[in-house]
Amino acid sequence: MYYFYNMPYILLKDIDQYLDQEVLLKGWVFNFRSSGKISFIQFRDGTGQIQGVAVKNEIGDDLWENIIKIVDETSVEMSGLVKQEPRSPYGYEMQVKDLKIIQAPVEEYPIAKKEHGPEFLLDNRHLWLRSTKQWAIQRIRNTIINATFEYLNNQGFIKIDSPILTPTCCEGTTTLFEVPYFDQKAFLTQSGQLYLEAAIMSFGRCFDFGPVFRAEKSKTRRHLTEFWMMDAEAAYVEHQDNMKIQEELILFILQKVLDKHQKDLEILERDPEPLKNIKAPFIRKTHAEVIQELQAMGSDIKENNDLGADDETNLTQKYDQPIFVERYPAAVKAFYMKRDPENPDLVLNNDLLAPEGYGEIIGGSQREDDYQKLLQRIKEHNLSVEDLNWYLDLRKYGSVPHSGFGYGLERIVGWVCGLHHVRETIPFPRTIYRLKP
Ligand code: 4AD
Ligand code: MG
Repeated sequence: MYYFYNMPYILLKDIDQYLDQEVLLKGWVFNFRSSGKISFIQFRDGTGQIQGVAVKNEIGDDLWENIIKIVDETSVEMSGLVKQEPRSPYGYEMQVKDLKIIQAPVEEYPIAKKEHGPEFLLDNRHLWLRSTKQWAIQRIRNTIINATFEYLNNQGFIKIDSPILTPTCCEGTTTLFEVPYFDQKAFLTQSGQLYLEAAIMSFGRCFDFGPVFRAEKSKTRRHLTEFWMMDAEAAYVEHQDNMKIQEELILFILQKVLDKHQKDLEILERDPEPLKNIKAPFIRKTHAEVIQELQAMGSDIKENNDLGADDETNLTQKYDQPIFVERYPAAVKAFYMKRDPENPDLVLNNDLLAPEGYGEIIGGSQREDDYQKLLQRIKEHNLSVEDLNWYLDLRKYGSVPHSGFGYGLERIVGWVCGLHHVRETIPFPRTIYRLKP
Protein backbone atom coordinates (compact mmCIF):
# COMPACT_ATOMS: atom_id res chain seq x y z
CA MET A 1 0.00 0.00 0.00
CA TYR A 2 1.28 3.48 -0.91
CA TYR A 3 0.10 6.81 0.44
CA PHE A 4 -0.41 10.01 -1.44
CA TYR A 5 -2.26 12.83 0.35
CA ASN A 6 -3.23 10.09 2.81
CA MET A 7 -5.20 8.28 0.12
CA PRO A 8 -3.98 4.66 -0.03
CA TYR A 9 -3.36 3.21 -3.49
CA ILE A 10 -1.68 0.09 -4.78
CA LEU A 11 0.74 -0.78 -7.56
CA LEU A 12 -0.34 -3.39 -10.08
CA LYS A 13 2.72 -5.50 -9.37
CA ASP A 14 1.09 -6.28 -6.01
CA ILE A 15 -2.42 -6.85 -7.37
CA ASP A 16 -2.52 -10.53 -6.41
CA GLN A 17 -2.59 -9.52 -2.73
CA TYR A 18 -5.88 -7.65 -3.19
CA LEU A 19 -8.22 -10.22 -4.68
CA ASP A 20 -11.91 -9.40 -3.96
CA GLN A 21 -10.92 -6.13 -2.30
CA GLU A 22 -11.56 -2.57 -3.37
CA VAL A 23 -8.39 -0.67 -4.27
CA LEU A 24 -7.32 2.57 -5.90
CA LEU A 25 -4.96 2.60 -8.92
CA LYS A 26 -3.14 5.57 -10.44
CA GLY A 27 -1.98 5.46 -14.03
CA TRP A 28 -2.91 5.86 -17.69
CA VAL A 29 -5.43 4.42 -20.10
CA PHE A 30 -3.73 2.90 -23.12
CA ASN A 31 -6.83 1.65 -24.89
CA PHE A 32 -10.50 2.39 -24.44
CA ARG A 33 -13.61 0.73 -25.91
CA SER A 34 -17.22 1.28 -25.10
CA SER A 35 -20.52 -0.14 -26.20
CA GLY A 36 -23.53 1.90 -25.08
CA LYS A 37 -23.68 -0.06 -21.82
CA ILE A 38 -20.26 -1.28 -20.89
CA SER A 39 -16.75 0.20 -21.15
CA PHE A 40 -13.42 -1.61 -21.26
CA ILE A 41 -10.55 0.44 -19.91
CA GLN A 42 -7.03 -0.91 -20.62
CA PHE A 43 -5.03 0.61 -17.83
CA ARG A 44 -1.35 0.63 -16.88
CA ASP A 45 0.53 2.09 -13.93
CA GLY A 46 4.10 1.31 -14.99
CA THR A 47 4.34 -1.82 -12.88
CA GLY A 48 1.62 -3.75 -14.67
CA GLN A 49 -1.55 -3.63 -16.74
CA ILE A 50 -5.18 -4.47 -16.04
CA GLN A 51 -8.55 -4.14 -17.71
CA GLY A 52 -11.14 -2.06 -15.91
CA VAL A 53 -14.77 -2.87 -16.70
CA ALA A 54 -17.37 -0.17 -16.09
CA VAL A 55 -21.06 -1.04 -16.41
CA LYS A 56 -23.40 1.90 -16.98
CA ASN A 57 -26.26 0.43 -14.92
CA GLU A 58 -24.02 -0.12 -11.94
CA ILE A 59 -22.08 3.15 -11.76
CA GLY A 60 -24.77 5.72 -12.54
CA ASP A 61 -25.10 8.30 -15.32
CA ASP A 62 -22.72 11.00 -14.04
CA LEU A 63 -19.74 8.72 -13.74
CA TRP A 64 -20.64 7.01 -17.01
CA GLU A 65 -20.62 10.36 -18.85
CA ASN A 66 -17.15 11.02 -17.45
CA ILE A 67 -15.82 7.59 -18.40
CA ILE A 68 -16.92 7.71 -22.02
CA LYS A 69 -14.82 10.87 -22.46
CA ILE A 70 -11.69 8.78 -22.03
CA VAL A 71 -9.28 8.61 -24.97
CA ASP A 72 -5.89 6.89 -25.27
CA GLU A 73 -3.27 8.22 -22.83
CA THR A 74 -5.75 9.90 -20.51
CA SER A 75 -4.23 9.84 -17.03
CA VAL A 76 -6.69 8.55 -14.47
CA GLU A 77 -7.23 7.35 -10.94
CA MET A 78 -9.44 4.31 -10.96
CA SER A 79 -10.90 2.37 -8.07
CA GLY A 80 -12.98 -0.77 -7.83
CA LEU A 81 -13.11 -4.41 -6.94
CA VAL A 82 -10.24 -6.72 -7.97
CA LYS A 83 -11.49 -9.96 -9.52
CA GLN A 84 -9.64 -12.99 -10.76
CA GLU A 85 -10.14 -13.27 -14.53
CA PRO A 86 -8.55 -16.31 -16.15
CA ARG A 87 -9.46 -15.10 -19.65
CA SER A 88 -7.50 -11.88 -19.17
CA PRO A 89 -3.79 -11.91 -20.09
CA TYR A 90 -3.16 -10.17 -16.77
CA GLY A 91 -5.08 -12.76 -14.73
CA TYR A 92 -7.14 -10.05 -13.00
CA GLU A 93 -9.81 -7.51 -13.87
CA MET A 94 -11.20 -4.49 -12.03
CA GLN A 95 -14.92 -3.89 -11.63
CA VAL A 96 -14.76 -0.11 -11.74
CA LYS A 97 -16.60 1.77 -8.99
CA ASP A 98 -15.08 5.21 -9.45
CA LEU A 99 -12.80 7.01 -11.87
CA LYS A 100 -11.21 10.44 -11.85
CA ILE A 101 -9.60 11.95 -14.94
CA ILE A 102 -6.27 13.58 -14.01
CA GLN A 103 -5.57 14.94 -17.47
CA ALA A 104 -7.32 14.36 -20.77
CA PRO A 105 -4.85 14.66 -23.68
CA VAL A 106 -5.12 18.08 -25.32
CA GLU A 107 -5.02 16.51 -28.76
CA GLU A 108 -5.12 13.04 -30.26
CA TYR A 109 -2.20 10.84 -29.19
CA PRO A 110 0.10 10.63 -32.20
CA ILE A 111 1.00 6.97 -31.83
CA ALA A 112 -2.04 5.12 -33.06
CA LYS A 113 -2.67 1.42 -32.93
CA LYS A 114 -1.86 1.17 -36.65
CA GLU A 115 1.65 0.39 -37.89
CA HIS A 116 4.12 3.26 -37.96
CA GLY A 117 7.50 3.37 -39.70
CA PRO A 118 10.67 3.26 -37.58
CA GLU A 119 11.61 6.91 -38.26
CA PHE A 120 8.25 8.16 -37.04
CA LEU A 121 8.51 6.02 -33.92
CA LEU A 122 12.08 7.14 -33.22
CA ASP A 123 11.12 10.81 -33.69
CA ASN A 124 8.46 10.14 -31.08
CA ARG A 125 10.67 8.04 -28.85
CA HIS A 126 9.56 10.07 -25.79
CA LEU A 127 6.04 8.72 -26.38
CA TRP A 128 6.90 5.40 -28.01
CA LEU A 129 8.52 4.35 -24.71
CA ARG A 130 4.98 3.98 -23.34
CA SER A 131 4.04 1.18 -25.72
CA THR A 132 3.74 -2.29 -24.23
CA LYS A 133 6.64 -3.75 -26.22
CA GLN A 134 8.99 -0.93 -25.31
CA TRP A 135 7.93 -1.30 -21.70
CA ALA A 136 8.77 -5.01 -21.79
CA ILE A 137 12.19 -4.34 -23.33
CA GLN A 138 13.21 -1.82 -20.68
CA ARG A 139 12.06 -4.09 -17.87
CA ILE A 140 14.24 -6.89 -19.26
CA ARG A 141 17.13 -4.44 -19.64
CA ASN A 142 16.74 -3.55 -15.97
CA THR A 143 16.89 -7.22 -14.97
CA ILE A 144 20.02 -7.76 -17.08
CA ILE A 145 21.72 -4.83 -15.33
CA ASN A 146 20.74 -6.12 -11.89
CA ALA A 147 21.79 -9.68 -12.74
CA THR A 148 25.18 -8.38 -13.84
CA PHE A 149 25.72 -6.56 -10.55
CA GLU A 150 24.55 -9.61 -8.60
CA TYR A 151 26.75 -12.10 -10.42
CA LEU A 152 29.87 -9.94 -10.28
CA ASN A 153 29.39 -8.93 -6.64
CA ASN A 154 28.99 -12.63 -5.77
CA GLN A 155 32.29 -13.35 -7.53
CA GLY A 156 34.17 -10.70 -5.55
CA PHE A 157 34.13 -7.92 -8.16
CA ILE A 158 33.44 -4.45 -6.83
CA LYS A 159 32.10 -1.59 -8.89
CA ILE A 160 34.64 1.08 -9.66
CA ASP A 161 33.52 4.07 -11.70
CA SER A 162 35.80 4.97 -14.58
CA PRO A 163 35.91 8.48 -16.05
CA ILE A 164 34.00 9.57 -19.15
CA LEU A 165 36.30 12.44 -20.11
CA THR A 166 39.67 10.97 -21.02
CA PRO A 167 42.95 12.15 -22.55
CA THR A 168 43.51 9.06 -24.78
CA CYS A 169 41.82 6.30 -26.70
CA CYS A 170 41.26 2.75 -25.47
CA GLU A 171 39.96 1.08 -28.63
CA GLY A 172 41.72 2.79 -31.52
CA THR A 173 41.74 6.39 -32.64
CA THR A 174 39.24 6.13 -35.49
CA THR A 175 36.06 6.19 -33.41
CA LEU A 176 36.94 8.89 -30.87
CA PHE A 177 34.59 11.74 -30.06
CA GLU A 178 36.64 14.81 -29.36
CA VAL A 179 35.36 17.47 -26.97
CA PRO A 180 36.88 20.84 -26.13
CA TYR A 181 38.25 20.79 -22.59
CA PHE A 182 39.30 24.30 -21.56
CA ASP A 183 42.57 24.83 -23.42
CA GLN A 184 43.09 21.15 -24.17
CA LYS A 185 41.12 18.54 -26.02
CA ALA A 186 39.51 15.55 -24.37
CA PHE A 187 37.83 12.43 -25.70
CA LEU A 188 34.66 10.70 -24.58
CA THR A 189 35.55 7.27 -23.23
CA GLN A 190 35.32 4.21 -25.50
CA SER A 191 35.67 1.80 -22.55
CA GLY A 192 36.77 2.12 -18.93
CA GLN A 193 39.10 -0.85 -19.22
CA LEU A 194 42.45 0.92 -18.78
CA TYR A 195 41.24 2.53 -15.55
CA LEU A 196 39.98 -0.78 -14.25
CA GLU A 197 43.42 -2.24 -14.84
CA ALA A 198 44.73 0.35 -12.41
CA ALA A 199 41.97 -0.39 -9.93
CA ILE A 200 42.45 -4.18 -9.82
CA MET A 201 45.97 -3.68 -8.49
CA SER A 202 44.22 -2.34 -5.41
CA PHE A 203 40.91 -4.23 -5.38
CA GLY A 204 41.71 -7.47 -7.21
CA ARG A 205 38.46 -7.71 -9.16
CA CYS A 206 36.52 -4.72 -10.48
CA PHE A 207 33.82 -3.76 -12.92
CA ASP A 208 32.36 -0.56 -14.25
CA PHE A 209 29.05 0.11 -15.92
CA GLY A 210 28.33 3.22 -17.84
CA PRO A 211 27.84 4.99 -21.12
CA VAL A 212 30.66 4.78 -23.65
CA PHE A 213 31.00 6.52 -26.97
CA ARG A 214 32.12 5.53 -30.43
CA ALA A 215 32.04 7.83 -33.42
CA GLU A 216 30.83 4.89 -35.50
CA LYS A 217 29.97 5.77 -39.05
CA SER A 218 28.45 2.31 -39.45
CA LYS A 219 24.72 2.10 -40.05
CA THR A 220 24.35 -1.55 -39.06
CA ARG A 221 21.65 -2.89 -36.78
CA ARG A 222 24.33 -3.43 -34.10
CA HIS A 223 25.93 0.01 -33.79
CA LEU A 224 25.14 2.98 -31.63
CA THR A 225 27.34 6.02 -31.01
CA GLU A 226 26.46 6.03 -27.30
CA PHE A 227 25.89 2.71 -25.58
CA TRP A 228 26.26 1.13 -22.16
CA MET A 229 29.23 -1.04 -21.47
CA MET A 230 30.10 -3.21 -18.55
CA ASP A 231 33.87 -3.76 -18.27
CA ALA A 232 35.09 -6.42 -15.85
CA GLU A 233 38.74 -6.88 -14.94
CA ALA A 234 40.47 -9.38 -12.66
CA ALA A 235 44.01 -9.81 -11.34
CA TYR A 236 45.57 -13.29 -11.60
CA VAL A 237 42.91 -14.39 -14.09
CA GLU A 238 44.29 -15.69 -17.39
CA HIS A 239 42.71 -16.15 -20.79
CA GLN A 240 40.84 -19.46 -20.22
CA ASP A 241 39.39 -18.40 -16.88
CA ASN A 242 38.45 -15.04 -18.35
CA MET A 243 36.20 -16.90 -20.80
CA LYS A 244 34.79 -19.02 -18.00
CA ILE A 245 33.68 -15.89 -16.14
CA GLN A 246 32.00 -14.56 -19.30
CA GLU A 247 30.21 -17.87 -19.79
CA GLU A 248 28.91 -17.95 -16.23
CA LEU A 249 27.82 -14.33 -16.34
CA ILE A 250 25.79 -14.87 -19.52
CA LEU A 251 24.15 -18.01 -18.10
CA PHE A 252 23.30 -16.15 -14.89
CA ILE A 253 21.72 -13.29 -16.86
CA LEU A 254 19.68 -15.66 -19.02
CA GLN A 255 18.40 -17.51 -15.98
CA LYS A 256 17.26 -14.30 -14.29
CA VAL A 257 15.44 -13.13 -17.41
CA LEU A 258 13.77 -16.52 -17.93
CA ASP A 259 12.72 -16.64 -14.26
CA LYS A 260 11.21 -13.15 -14.18
CA HIS A 261 10.09 -12.24 -17.67
CA GLN A 262 8.00 -14.98 -19.20
CA LYS A 263 5.16 -12.53 -19.85
CA ASP A 264 7.44 -9.83 -21.20
CA LEU A 265 9.02 -12.30 -23.63
CA GLU A 266 5.50 -13.26 -24.75
CA ILE A 267 4.67 -9.59 -25.33
CA LEU A 268 7.80 -9.38 -27.48
CA GLU A 269 6.85 -12.59 -29.29
CA ARG A 270 10.30 -13.86 -28.32
CA ASP A 271 10.42 -17.67 -28.29
CA PRO A 272 12.17 -18.48 -24.98
CA GLU A 273 13.24 -21.98 -26.09
CA PRO A 274 16.52 -20.98 -27.75
CA LEU A 275 17.47 -19.10 -24.55
CA LYS A 276 16.47 -22.02 -22.32
CA ASN A 277 18.62 -24.38 -24.38
CA ILE A 278 21.83 -22.46 -23.80
CA LYS A 279 24.29 -24.43 -21.68
CA ALA A 280 27.93 -24.45 -20.70
CA PRO A 281 30.38 -25.03 -22.22
CA PHE A 282 29.78 -22.60 -25.04
CA ILE A 283 31.38 -23.41 -28.39
CA ARG A 284 35.08 -22.45 -28.55
CA LYS A 285 36.79 -21.87 -31.89
CA THR A 286 39.95 -20.10 -32.90
CA HIS A 287 39.87 -17.16 -35.27
CA ALA A 288 41.77 -19.30 -37.80
CA GLU A 289 39.13 -22.05 -37.62
CA VAL A 290 36.36 -19.53 -38.05
CA ILE A 291 38.03 -18.01 -41.12
CA GLN A 292 38.17 -21.44 -42.76
CA GLU A 293 34.58 -22.12 -41.85
CA LEU A 294 33.43 -18.79 -43.25
CA GLN A 295 35.41 -19.27 -46.44
CA ALA A 296 33.79 -22.68 -46.86
CA MET A 297 30.43 -20.91 -46.47
CA GLY A 298 31.32 -18.59 -49.35
CA SER A 299 32.66 -15.52 -47.51
CA ASP A 300 35.59 -13.68 -49.10
CA ILE A 301 37.12 -13.02 -45.65
CA LYS A 302 40.95 -13.26 -45.48
CA GLU A 303 43.14 -14.89 -42.85
CA ASN A 304 44.12 -11.60 -41.27
CA ASN A 305 40.70 -9.95 -41.28
CA ASP A 306 38.54 -9.07 -38.34
CA LEU A 307 35.08 -10.66 -38.63
CA GLY A 308 32.62 -8.44 -40.47
CA ALA A 309 29.02 -7.94 -39.38
CA ASP A 310 27.73 -10.25 -42.13
CA ASP A 311 30.27 -12.92 -41.25
CA GLU A 312 29.12 -12.86 -37.63
CA THR A 313 25.48 -13.08 -38.68
CA ASN A 314 26.05 -16.01 -41.03
CA LEU A 315 28.26 -17.90 -38.59
CA THR A 316 25.99 -17.51 -35.57
CA GLN A 317 22.88 -18.46 -37.52
CA LYS A 318 24.40 -21.93 -37.87
CA TYR A 319 24.67 -22.56 -34.12
CA ASP A 320 22.27 -22.62 -31.22
CA GLN A 321 24.97 -21.93 -28.61
CA PRO A 322 27.12 -18.83 -28.08
CA ILE A 323 30.56 -19.05 -29.69
CA PHE A 324 33.87 -17.91 -28.23
CA VAL A 325 36.16 -16.90 -31.06
CA GLU A 326 39.71 -16.88 -29.69
CA ARG A 327 43.19 -15.83 -30.71
CA TYR A 328 42.73 -13.16 -33.34
CA PRO A 329 45.65 -11.81 -35.35
CA ALA A 330 47.33 -9.14 -33.22
CA ALA A 331 47.22 -6.83 -36.24
CA VAL A 332 43.43 -6.34 -36.00
CA LYS A 333 43.18 -5.96 -32.24
CA ALA A 334 43.93 -3.34 -29.60
CA PHE A 335 47.44 -2.53 -28.32
CA TYR A 336 46.93 -3.84 -24.78
CA MET A 337 46.24 -7.50 -25.63
CA LYS A 338 48.80 -10.10 -24.59
CA ARG A 339 50.40 -12.13 -27.35
CA ASP A 340 49.75 -15.85 -27.58
CA PRO A 341 52.93 -17.59 -26.32
CA GLU A 342 52.35 -20.35 -28.89
CA ASN A 343 52.12 -17.91 -31.80
CA PRO A 344 53.22 -14.30 -31.26
CA ASP A 345 51.26 -13.12 -34.30
CA LEU A 346 48.09 -13.86 -32.35
CA VAL A 347 46.63 -12.43 -29.15
CA LEU A 348 45.08 -14.14 -26.13
CA ASN A 349 41.68 -12.64 -26.72
CA ASN A 350 38.11 -13.68 -27.33
CA ASP A 351 34.97 -12.26 -28.79
CA LEU A 352 31.78 -13.90 -27.62
CA LEU A 353 29.18 -14.20 -30.37
CA ALA A 354 25.51 -14.72 -29.55
CA PRO A 355 23.58 -17.30 -31.59
CA GLU A 356 20.59 -16.78 -33.92
CA GLY A 357 22.54 -14.30 -36.03
CA TYR A 358 23.16 -11.78 -33.23
CA GLY A 359 26.95 -11.79 -33.32
CA GLU A 360 29.44 -10.11 -30.96
CA ILE A 361 28.17 -9.27 -27.49
CA ILE A 362 31.47 -9.37 -25.57
CA GLY A 363 35.09 -8.53 -26.33
CA GLY A 364 37.79 -9.64 -23.90
CA SER A 365 41.44 -10.55 -23.54
CA GLN A 366 44.37 -11.23 -21.31
CA ARG A 367 46.37 -8.00 -21.03
CA GLU A 368 50.05 -7.42 -21.75
CA ASP A 369 51.65 -7.27 -18.29
CA ASP A 370 55.28 -6.75 -19.31
CA TYR A 371 56.57 -3.17 -19.28
CA GLN A 372 58.91 -3.41 -22.29
CA LYS A 373 56.44 -5.27 -24.49
CA LEU A 374 53.62 -2.88 -23.68
CA LEU A 375 55.83 0.12 -24.37
CA GLN A 376 56.69 -1.35 -27.76
CA ARG A 377 52.99 -1.92 -28.61
CA ILE A 378 52.07 1.61 -27.66
CA LYS A 379 54.75 2.88 -30.03
CA GLU A 380 53.71 0.47 -32.79
CA HIS A 381 50.15 1.75 -32.55
CA ASN A 382 51.37 5.37 -32.71
CA LEU A 383 49.81 6.16 -29.36
CA SER A 384 51.22 8.77 -27.01
CA VAL A 385 53.62 7.26 -24.48
CA GLU A 386 53.33 10.43 -22.44
CA ASP A 387 49.55 10.12 -22.13
CA LEU A 388 49.83 6.42 -21.30
CA ASN A 389 52.68 6.67 -18.80
CA TRP A 390 50.29 6.10 -15.93
CA TYR A 391 49.10 2.89 -17.62
CA LEU A 392 52.70 1.77 -18.13
CA ASP A 393 53.34 2.41 -14.42
CA LEU A 394 51.00 -0.50 -13.66
CA ARG A 395 53.65 -2.76 -15.25
CA LYS A 396 56.39 -1.30 -13.07
CA TYR A 397 55.06 -1.93 -9.59
CA GLY A 398 53.90 -5.48 -8.88
CA SER A 399 52.58 -6.32 -12.32
CA VAL A 400 50.51 -9.53 -12.45
CA PRO A 401 48.83 -11.59 -15.16
CA HIS A 402 45.34 -10.19 -15.58
CA SER A 403 42.40 -10.30 -17.94
CA GLY A 404 39.06 -8.70 -18.54
CA PHE A 405 36.20 -8.20 -20.90
CA GLY A 406 33.49 -5.74 -21.81
CA TYR A 407 29.92 -6.38 -22.84
CA GLY A 408 27.62 -4.15 -24.85
CA LEU A 409 24.37 -3.98 -22.88
CA GLU A 410 22.27 -3.12 -25.92
CA ARG A 411 23.61 -6.10 -27.88
CA ILE A 412 22.68 -8.45 -25.03
CA VAL A 413 19.23 -6.92 -24.58
CA GLY A 414 18.64 -7.13 -28.35
CA TRP A 415 19.53 -10.80 -28.42
CA VAL A 416 17.57 -11.76 -25.30
CA CYS A 417 14.49 -9.84 -26.49
CA GLY A 418 14.83 -11.14 -30.05
CA LEU A 419 14.93 -7.64 -31.59
CA HIS A 420 16.20 -6.85 -35.04
CA HIS A 421 17.92 -3.56 -34.20
CA VAL A 422 19.76 -2.35 -31.08
CA ARG A 423 18.11 1.08 -31.28
CA GLU A 424 15.01 -0.27 -29.49
CA THR A 425 17.03 -1.54 -26.54
CA ILE A 426 18.15 1.84 -25.20
CA PRO A 427 15.68 4.46 -23.98
CA PHE A 428 17.02 7.26 -26.19
CA PRO A 429 19.21 5.88 -29.00
CA ARG A 430 22.08 7.85 -30.50
CA THR A 431 23.22 6.89 -33.96
CA ILE A 432 25.10 8.64 -36.72
CA TYR A 433 21.86 10.31 -37.89
CA ARG A 434 20.04 10.65 -34.62
CA LEU A 435 20.60 12.94 -31.65
CA LYS A 436 16.93 13.67 -30.92
CA PRO A 437 14.79 13.49 -28.88
O1 4AD B 1 34.88 -5.19 -28.29
P1 4AD B 1 34.96 -3.85 -27.65
O2 4AD B 1 35.38 -2.71 -28.49
O3 4AD B 1 35.88 -4.04 -26.39
C1 4AD B 1 36.34 -3.05 -25.55
O4 4AD B 1 36.00 -1.89 -25.59
C2 4AD B 1 37.19 -3.55 -24.44
N1 4AD B 1 37.99 -2.43 -23.91
C3 4AD B 1 36.33 -4.15 -23.38
C4 4AD B 1 37.13 -4.75 -22.26
O5 4AD B 1 37.92 -5.64 -22.49
N2 4AD B 1 36.92 -4.27 -21.05
O6 4AD B 1 33.53 -3.50 -27.03
C5 4AD B 1 32.93 -4.34 -26.10
C6 4AD B 1 31.49 -4.63 -26.50
C7 4AD B 1 31.34 -5.34 -27.84
O7 4AD B 1 31.52 -6.72 -27.71
C8 4AD B 1 29.91 -5.00 -28.19
O8 4AD B 1 29.00 -5.82 -27.49
C9 4AD B 1 29.76 -3.58 -27.65
O9 4AD B 1 30.76 -3.41 -26.67
N3 4AD B 1 29.91 -2.57 -28.69
C10 4AD B 1 28.90 -1.84 -29.19
N4 4AD B 1 27.59 -1.84 -28.94
C11 4AD B 1 26.81 -0.95 -29.61
N5 4AD B 1 27.29 -0.07 -30.49
C12 4AD B 1 28.61 -0.03 -30.79
N6 4AD B 1 29.06 0.88 -31.65
C13 4AD B 1 29.47 -0.95 -30.12
N7 4AD B 1 30.82 -1.17 -30.15
C14 4AD B 1 31.05 -2.16 -29.27
MG1 MG C 1 34.99 -6.03 -30.16
